[in-house]
Amino acid sequence: MGTKSNDWRELYKKKNEQGHQSLEGPVLFYNELVIDHFSNPRNVGEIPDADGCALVGDPSCGDQMKLWIKVREGKISDIKFKTFGCPHAIATSSMATVLAFGKTIAEAKQLTDDDVIIALGGIPEKKRHCSLMGVNALLAAIEDYQRSSSHNG
Ligand code: FES
Repeated sequence: MGTKSNDWRELYKKKNEQGHQSLEGPVLFYNELVIDHFSNPRNVGEIPDADGCALVGDPSCGDQMKLWIKVREGKISDIKFKTFGCPHAIATSSMATVLAFGKTIAEAKQLTDDDVIIALGGIPEKKRHCSLMGVNALLAAIEDYQRSSSHNG
């Protein structure tokens, strides 16, 4: 992206450099990887013939996420999501799908919000709750898959 004066990233950076204070305190920091996954989220969309699907939400803010998985030979062969939420919700949802793609069901069930946060290079502590949606949606979609297909691997 260029450096136009109306580039929100440039404006954001400038505000951080100036020590801009919002009503809630300093502006939250978004690292480059978070900005990348928020601006170009991976695996966005739907899987019409999904093997598992889940809708989860965060009651503290009202954000929501829907996630679909396709399973072949015990592995997540396709994964798609749609998130209605804040930048961190979108970035962490995106990273959760990247981490889950190609994993076995057993491996995917081990993924945690910490894995997502580490893979993104960190997020502000007060936005940590945003990282739960992706993992929770993944686990719920796996449950849906196992319930509907009696696969318990
Ligand atoms: Fe709702 Fe981030 S503020 S998930």
